[in-house]
Amino acid sequence: MNESNDQILLNVSGLQKFFPIRRGFLRRVVGQVRAVDDVSFFIRKGETLSLVGESGCGKTTTARCILRAIRPTAGKILFRTAQGSVVDVATLSRSELQPLRRQMQMIFQDPFSSLNPRMTILDIVGEPLLVHGVRSRSERTDRVAELLRLVGLRPEYMNRFPHAFSGGQRQRIGIARALALHPSLVVADEAVSALDVSVQAQILNLLLELQEELGLTYLFVAHDLSVVKHISDRVAVMYVGKIVELADRDQLFQTPKHPYTAALLSAVPKPDPRARTQRIVLQGEVANPAAPPSGCYFHPRCQFAVERCRVEAPALQEIAPGHFVSCHRAHELTLPGVTSGGARASRPSTSTISTGEG
Ligand SMILES: Nc1ncnc2c1ncn2[C@@H]1O[C@H](COP(=O)(O)OP(=O)(O)OP(=O)(O)O)[C@@H](O)[C@H]1O
Ligand code: SF4
Ligand SMILES: [Mg+2]
Repeated sequence: MNESNDQILLNVSGLQKFFPIRRGFLRRVVGQVRAVDDVSFFIRKGETLSLVGESGCGKTTTARCILRAIRPTAGKILFRTAQGSVVDVATLSRSELQPLRRQMQMIFQDPFSSLNPRMTILDIVGEPLLVHGVRSRSERTDRVAELLRLVGLRPEYMNRFPHAFSGGQRQRIGIARALALHPSLVVADEAVSALDVSVQAQILNLLLELQEELGLTYLFVAHDLSVVKHISDRVAVMYVGKIVELADRDQLFQTPKHPYTAALLSAVPKPDPRARTQRIVLQGEVANPAAPPSGCYFHPRCQFAVERCRVEAPALQEIAPGHFVSCHRAHELTLPGVTSGGARASRPSTSTISTGEG
C-alpha cells in the first residue's frame, strides 16, 4: 500500500508491536501479545485517517509506535519532516527523535490525567513551549493567549485551574497544548469518546476548523464508526492487530466489503430513523492477540465463514482503487452499509469558531 509522492506525510509499512508475556520467578518469556501485527497505511498531508475497532485491537499501540512513545518490534514509519526530508521514525535514536517530537503531537481522551491539578492553564498549555526552549514568560503568555483564542476559549482563563472547566473545555485546552509547537501530524486517541454527543460534535467541528486553518494532518483513533463519520477522509478498520479494511470514508460506509466492518456499521445511528437496518450482533468475544485463531482471525464470529476461512489467513488486497480488504469472500458478498452523509462536515473559517464557553 505504497504511494510514494511528496504529498504523503506518514507512510507506515509492516508495523509490528509484540509485547512479551513473562511468567514465573525467572520472568521467562512464555508468549507474545501480537498487539499490532503487520499494519500498513499512509496519510496524505492535510487529510484525516481514522483508525477504528473494538477495544484491544491495537489502535493505541499503533499510535504510540508512530509517536515513538514505544519502540516497534518491526516495520517502517516514514515521516516527512517540516524540512522536507523523509525519516524512519521506527529506528531513530532518542536524540534524533527530539527535534521531531514537536512535529507530531497527541490529543488524549483525558488531557489532564497525567498532569498536576495545581498547574494553571498557562502552565499546562505553555509547558511544551518551555520544554522546547521558549524561556521568556511573556512570550509564553502571548502564545498561550493566542492558542486559547484559536480553540475558542477566553485568554483570561489562563490563570485558572483545570477543575474549573467542563469536559469540552478541558478537551479544548488539551488541543491548545497539542498545537503549541506547530505540529504537522496530530494523533487524537479517543479524543471525544468521553464527551456527551453534543459536546463531541463541537470538538469534532473545532478539529475540522483547525485542520483547515493550520493545514493539520490527523490520525484519529476511535472505537466507534459513528464518531469518525464526519471527520474522516479515509477509514481503516482494525481487528486483533491487523487492518481488515481501508477505504475512502464514503466507500467504506456505503459499500463495506468486510463482514466485521458491516457489523460495526450496523450499530451506527441512521440519519432517517425510519430507515431500519438489521443490527448485526457479533457472536463471541474479540480474539485474544496472544493466541489468535487459525486462518482468518474473525472466523469464529463471522456468519459468512467457510472452511477456507478456518485454515488460510486472507491477505489485504486492493479490490477497487484505494479500497483494501482482507476477506476471502470480499468479491462475492454484498453487505449492508449506511449513507455517510455526503461531503465532510463544513469547514467555516476560524472567525466563526464556536466558543467553548457553553
Ligand atoms: N504494555 C503492554 N504490555 C502488554 N500488553 C499490552 C501493552 N499495551 C497494550 N497491550 C495489549 O495489546 C493489545 C492492544 O492494546 P491497545 O491498547 O493498543 O488497544 P486499543 O485498540 O487501543 O484498545 P482500546 O479501545 O481499549 O483503547 C491488547 O491486547 C492489550 O492488552
Ligand atoms: S475471510 Fe471468511 S471468516 Fe474472514 S471475514 Fe471473510 S468470510 Fe468471514
Ligand atoms: Mg486505546
